[in-house]
Amino acid sequence: MNAILETRGLMRSFGAVVAAKDINVRIEKGEIVGVIGSNGAGKTTFINMVTGYLPPSGGEILFDGHSILGRAPRDITRQGMSRSFQVAQLFPQLTVLENTLISLVAAEGVWPSFLRPLNTPERCAQADAMFEEFGVSHFRNAVISAVPQGARKLVDIAMALVSKPRMLLLDEPTSGVSAEEKFVLMDTVMAAVKKFGVTVLFVEHDMEIVARYVTRIIAFYSGQVIADGPPSTVLTDARVQELVIGRHFELDLLKESV
Ligand SMILES: Nc1ncnc2c1ncn2[C@@H]1O[C@H](COP(=O)(O)OP(=O)(O)O)[C@@H](O)[C@H]1O
Ligand SMILES: [Mg+2]
Repeated sequence: MNAILETRGLMRSFGAVVAAKDINVRIEKGEIVGVIGSNGAGKTTFINMVTGYLPPSGGEILFDGHSILGRAPRDITRQGMSRSFQVAQLFPQLTVLENTLISLVAAEGVWPSFLRPLNTPERCAQADAMFEEFGVSHFRNAVISAVPQGARKLVDIAMALVSKPRMLLLDEPTSGVSAEEKFVLMDTVMAAVKKFGVTVLFVEHDMEIVARYVTRIIAFYSGQVIADGPPSTVLTDARVQELVIGRHFELDLLKESV
């Protein structure tokens, strides 16, 4: 069976900096994968390459068994791979619903005209169902720049899921979220992705979040994958503890997660 996402010998350099060196990963459908690694390890570079935002210097990327190398981000989204939107990159003067409809139309690959408005009842219903799933319905008509920081993360991820992608990539979904709110946010996201059967890969610095939600961890260090496996193996790996976590990880947390 084909993996949903596979990279073979993926490489990327920025001048003398090697941000990705021979990255070989195989993600199966339904996996919830956590990506860990210190700052500058190459996590964002990896996400940018597989979503089409950054061309690799070498290697291959397969989505559902087909090469997506060289494809534009919108083509990759259309094939069913989505990433959370950076709200700042959307239209801050438009509402949450308007921005969501634009993402939906972009994922559908059609472009509206005055003859084909984007706010069809079907699309609005799709958007409303996702807002409800994420508990952000009351922000539907709010201008996006006015949505409070905490809710923005949820709005972001709701928008990424509205086109019902098969795979979702999140770069640090809990960054800037308070410790108490992190679990609430992740509970909401995980309930939605499980309901829709979405495969997820997310970058996360908080090891408690990683241990709680993922089925597998890929640890990056200096552009390379240094460990890849279940949390109980990766979080107790000596190199991961030395190079990524920087301290001995409490095994009690792991027990809760298995
Ligand atoms: N656009 C860029 N130009 C130059 N260097 C970059 C660029 N993007 C990333 N890098 C470098 O590549 C390495 C990996 O960066 P990044 O993938 O952002 O790491 P992470 O997300 O794990 O913190 C770092 O050394 C970073 O400085
Ligand atoms: Mg990063």
